Amino acid sequence: MAINEAATPQTDGSALIWRRRGTFVLAAAGSAIGLGNIWRFPHELGTNGGSAFLFVYLLCIAGICVPLMVAEALIGRVGRTGAVYSFTAIANRQGTGELWVAVGAIGILTGFLIASFYAVVGGWTAAYTLDSLLFHSVSGEAESSAFFDQLTSLWAVPFAELGFWEIVQKMKVGVLSILMLSLFLVLSSAVVYRGVLKGLEKFVQLVMPLLFLLVVVMVVYSLAVGNTVEALRFIFTPDFSRLSPEVALKAMGHAFFSLSLGMGVFITYGGYTPKEQSLSKAIGTVALLDTLVAVLAGLMIFPLVFASEGIVADVGPSLVFISMPQAFSQMPLGNIVQPMFFLLLLVAAISSMVSLMEPMVATVERRFGINRHSACKTVVGIMWVLALGCAFSQDMFSILDYVTANIMLPLGGILVAIYVGWVLKPSLYADQAGMPAGSMRLIWLWIVRLFAPIAIVAILINGVFFS
Ligand code: PHE
Repeated sequence: MAINEAATPQTDGSALIWRRRGTFVLAAAGSAIGLGNIWRFPHELGTNGGSAFLFVYLLCIAGICVPLMVAEALIGRVGRTGAVYSFTAIANRQGTGELWVAVGAIGILTGFLIASFYAVVGGWTAAYTLDSLLFHSVSGEAESSAFFDQLTSLWAVPFAELGFWEIVQKMKVGVLSILMLSLFLVLSSAVVYRGVLKGLEKFVQLVMPLLFLLVVVMVVYSLAVGNTVEALRFIFTPDFSRLSPEVALKAMGHAFFSLSLGMGVFITYGGYTPKEQSLSKAIGTVALLDTLVAVLAGLMIFPLVFASEGIVADVGPSLVFISMPQAFSQMPLGNIVQPMFFLLLLVAAISSMVSLMEPMVATVERRFGINRHSACKTVVGIMWVLALGCAFSQDMFSILDYVTANIMLPLGGILVAIYVGWVLKPSLYADQAGMPAGSMRLIWLWIVRLFAPIAIVAILINGVFFS
């Protein structure tokens, strides 16, 4: 079957190949760079021993994740029909069973679960962005704590003990967080709603340069006014005494989360790339950009944290939302830089949320033969309900954050590795541009076949049972 035939429009009449060569890198970097880099990475680093965490994280990216990203994108390139149906298309072509469709289905489930807590944090981000652009009311410790408490007030309400009307009463305090997570979902879905070319491609071309610009400005500012020496020491001085099975598990989980690996984003986006585009080069670039932004996020946050009085580095998820406004209130030009910081966070969050929606919307479109608009509304509706669950229950929020990143994404990675290493026939992908050639291909193949699955299983078992 000719590639272009497989890539013919689904139901909305658009040809599903990016118009520009650079779009894949921008879109995939947009997916990878997100709250994971700027919200999750610094607080995981802060609570898991700084450089020990960074060390394992970098090893996982280079040794496990990049080869698997190539494998994932390859499935999309060969199958061309999204995160789930690419497995069916390949099964039809090489005459294997359709059981592997389950890999895609698990990916979709993982994506929904990630989206549910991601939308909550995205909502906080939208709230801080709006406030610091329009009202400037959140500044300093007391105000930022109060604002964060308000956004998470539903968490403090023990619903099991309340009657119906009491719950309705209490819900009023949670109106802000519900409004904000809804706004975040609407903003993100507006991109997906418009389609792959008119929505996604245009969006990433517009916002990704802005994102990189904001990162550079923020880092220069932090290094200029913050405590750079202390921050560099915290991030880069190796302290292997902090290395433990648990730190290794969290570092690997975070590598998967940060690269958006293990739930079908690369299958979907890879399927929109032209045949002549080199996958391995593009993916190498994406991994480099993502790692760079994670380290830069550390360099924009920790110099300010260490330069401010009364802030510690290991407070967890509130690091960005309470500590940063507190730090900005003590720094020169803080009231101008704070809105920039939260805008940066919001743009990064939306471009990732978009990539959590696209695989599902494309799949629902195909599965039910409905158009993109209906598919988009359905997917966002389900995400909204799940996100409400995380807005109401801190347990649901924390459990989903932990389980999706540390367990489900790595498991997805193992399945992709086994599929590409042992099931997918090399003749189907041998001619794909940018496949590693010669001895490089051999190394890649054996990482995918053996090294990556074994390493992931070892880290998973150690981290889950021995920490
Ligand atoms: N990589 C994104 C981030 O760092 C999160 C994400 C995970 C997006 C999985 C899509 C899929 O914020």
